[in-house]
Amino acid sequence: MSSKSKVQYQCSQCHAMSSKWHGQCPSCDGWSTLVESQSPQASHKAADRHWVKGEKAQPLINVAKEKPQHRLLTGIGELDRALGGGMTQGSCILLGGDPGIGKSTLLLQMLGSLPKRENSLYISGEESPDQLGMRAIRLGLKDEDCYVMSETRLDTILDAMLELQPKVVVIDSIQTIYDEKVQSASGSVSQIRECTHALIRFCKQRAMTLFVIGHVTKEGALAGPRVLEHMVDTVLYFEGERSSRHRLVRAVKNRFGPANEIGIFAMTQEGLKGISNPSRMFLQDGPLTSGRVITSLWEGTRAMLIEIQVLVSPSYGDHPRRVTVGFDNGRLNMLLAVASRYLNIKMHEFDIFVNVVGGIKITETSADLALLAALMSSHDDLILPPDLMIFGEVGLGGEIRPVVEGVARVHTAVKQGFTSIWGPSRNNNDPSHFTGMELIKSLHTAMNNLSRKK
Ligand code: TYD
Ligand code: MG
Repeated sequence: MSSKSKVQYQCSQCHAMSSKWHGQCPSCDGWSTLVESQSPQASHKAADRHWVKGEKAQPLINVAKEKPQHRLLTGIGELDRALGGGMTQGSCILLGGDPGIGKSTLLLQMLGSLPKRENSLYISGEESPDQLGMRAIRLGLKDEDCYVMSETRLDTILDAMLELQPKVVVIDSIQTIYDEKVQSASGSVSQIRECTHALIRFCKQRAMTLFVIGHVTKEGALAGPRVLEHMVDTVLYFEGERSSRHRLVRAVKNRFGPANEIGIFAMTQEGLKGISNPSRMFLQDGPLTSGRVITSLWEGTRAMLIEIQVLVSPSYGDHPRRVTVGFDNGRLNMLLAVASRYLNIKMHEFDIFVNVVGGIKITETSADLALLAALMSSHDDLILPPDLMIFGEVGLGGEIRPVVEGVARVHTAVKQGFTSIWGPSRNNNDPSHFTGMELIKSLHTAMNNLSRKK
């Protein structure tokens, strides 16, 4: 055996250990935070391993039994949907998002609408009881079972939870809570971790459901909710532009349900209102101008129609500009390369701006064809009909590839009055399929279709 003691590296911010040095911490993404540390615990543990007693391994079949999960509906349909059918009792749910996007509003509203008459507790480290009261009046909440408390000390919070025995607890926000035993400022990674650990342990033992609010900071979310994602059962993120009325709550992780399910809300004076039929909500009425195309995104278990806008304008600099909002820049560059090759357009002569309407971020490849159609529409100053929906992935060979849930996307569009649809030919495998769909095999066919509209 080598007598060399193993050198380890520890992150000075999140304390994660690593066997190799990295410029950026693999755990919290901090830069230049890894420092060398001889890991005394590690060698100690290794030497003492023989007497450490833990759980025994057992055959999988012994544990593969259906256990009933106790779920509690929040009373807000769209939130229940994002959670995968209500909240699981005793689970911990992280709700992250930019400051001011609606996190406090949503969770206070939720406590006010819990159908079961059981105690719930809202702990705010940011607002006084008076401020919470004003918010409750605005939201029309008059709930006798919902308790509120302005507090930031962990011990006091745990004492209050012990006394009140609430079924559901909200911590707003985890960045403001501190444990006096931890030697760092509130909001630091170690405070956030220790406090969350303590709260989760406490709630799991008592089957309380815990919601933790975390602000996402613009500086890369270093001390934000990201460091908590692996500790909690469910991670919900608020999406949407502050200037827009619409808000999306997306489950990016869920140990008790499908990930990627979303809840959709509209902001009103009286708080967030769920939108159960969102297929049309991001569309504007009136005629389209050139460079605007409607496509369909598959969000969770629903198809949503959204608008992509592209502006192509002559470039006068050495480097043409590529600016995207809601669309991946790398993917745009790839699509431009495909278009240059197969459509013979000199993309380097143009600045290109892409905007996805409504603060939506496209993460699917299904919008490729629509994006290129919008690009051509702007380039040729050609207005596409308002009842046309386009979807499909574009491959590097200029071929149009099928996407998931093609049939459902078409059905949603038809229900919303779209009479013409362009989509991948291999997405037409349903005999009851809509006949107004033009099946597209290649970029050439698609763009020929466009020029026919001239
Ligand atoms: P808030 O819930 O406080 O945001 P966060 O907790 O994420 O920082 O909401 C910000 C502001 O917007 C607040 O003044 C209340 C207002 N608001 C409404 O008026 N209606 C709504 O539906 C929402 C969500 C917020
Ligand atoms: Mg808040």
